Amino acid sequence: MKFSLFACFSSSNNNNKNDFPEAENDGSFRVFTYHQLKLATGNFGDKIGEGGFGSVYKGRLIDGSSVAVKVLSIEIESMRGEREFVAELATLANIKHQNLVSLKGCCVEGAKRYLVYDYMENNSLHHTFLGSEDKRMRFSWEARRNISIGVASGVSYLHEELKPHIVHRDIKAKNILIDRDFTPKVADFGLAKLMRDETSYISTKVAGTLGYLAPEYASSGQLRRKSDVYSFGVLLLQIVTGSAVVDAYTDIERFIVEKAWAAYEANDLLRIVDPVLNTNYSAEEAIKFLKVGLLCVQETAKLRPRMSEVVEILTNNNIDMKDVHISKPGFVADLRNIRIKQHMTTDSPQGSSSSGTSFASSVWSVKNLAR
Ligand SMILES: Nc1ncnc2c1ncn2[C@@H]1O[C@H](COP(=O)(O)OP(=O)(O)OP(=O)(O)O)[C@@H](O)[C@H]1O
Ligand SMILES: [Mg+2]
Repeated sequence: MKFSLFACFSSSNNNNKNDFPEAENDGSFRVFTYHQLKLATGNFGDKIGEGGFGSVYKGRLIDGSSVAVKVLSIEIESMRGEREFVAELATLANIKHQNLVSLKGCCVEGAKRYLVYDYMENNSLHHTFLGSEDKRMRFSWEARRNISIGVASGVSYLHEELKPHIVHRDIKAKNILIDRDFTPKVADFGLAKLMRDETSYISTKVAGTLGYLAPEYASSGQLRRKSDVYSFGVLLLQIVTGSAVVDAYTDIERFIVEKAWAAYEANDLLRIVDPVLNTNYSAEEAIKFLKVGLLCVQETAKLRPRMSEVVEILTNNNIDMKDVHISKPGFVADLRNIRIKQHMTTDSPQGSSSSGTSFASSVWSVKNLAR
């Protein structure tokens, strides 16, 4: 159904119905006024999180539904103009899947932009599952299985059912939110579309993703669907082992993929299963999940499975992984050497990359190591 987005600006803006273009939407997407969001969040009083792009506040709409309001603190010049910004969001809001966080609306207030999402009661996988000892919950094997399959289904939908498909670019425990019923929901997909230049999204985000980042990014500066598969593989290894993605305090097997590969080569994958599970899990299934994780992080992108294949392997008990061949994983060990492609065009001199690249060193620091 065609839905005309109405502008609901605060008094600083004129309430002109024609402020925004017609955008295809099923009618559930709203453009909020700043005043409405201020009321809903109690003057932005209940901060629930902080990310690289800004702070997130809890709110309640007049209809009683709980929302998370993300305040984007990005330079206005980097973002698309108001009309395009709202139109992109309206399109993103149409993407509905039980394992994807729903976008409810947005607000444009002068230079400030706000995104309004369904509120997820159990925060992120990073916070709830891997957080500090006093906060983290002990997840059963069944919970881990459901979360792994749910995330795989959400990403598979973005990659293979949606037309045109979406490459997430930032799959990690922080971007897996958990609702009241412990259904996992993939968050923050499609945000690169809000930027004028998609590479600026990656170069900003890359700081927080060491450990999840596919190795081909270091050489080509490009992230494709198989790069998401890599990040999912790292996440899957994390879900089974309960470990950090990178352990900054050790010299050997710093990366979870190194640890998993060493255990695989020693034919002893069970040694890396999260000890808090004790013996309360299916060894056969845990080995299978770890092998799928390793398949996804193989250095050669084309050898990695597609996300629909991942879902099939994880859910089908008749698929036997005993004789599957897994090749060595790759990983980005140091972001300081990454070249980020910018405006690489075919007519650049001799296809040389030097004119179109910049280094990510300025955004790299140890504190950004992904947990
Ligand atoms: N819809 C939501 N419901 C509940 N909590 C949320 C929601 N969205 C975000 N949060 C909380 O806010 C935090 C910050 O989210 P945000 O997406 O801005 O950054 P991030 O994904 O944690 O980190 P980064 O910026 O490095 O990607 C999340 O980690 C989560 O704790
Ligand atoms: Mg996020």
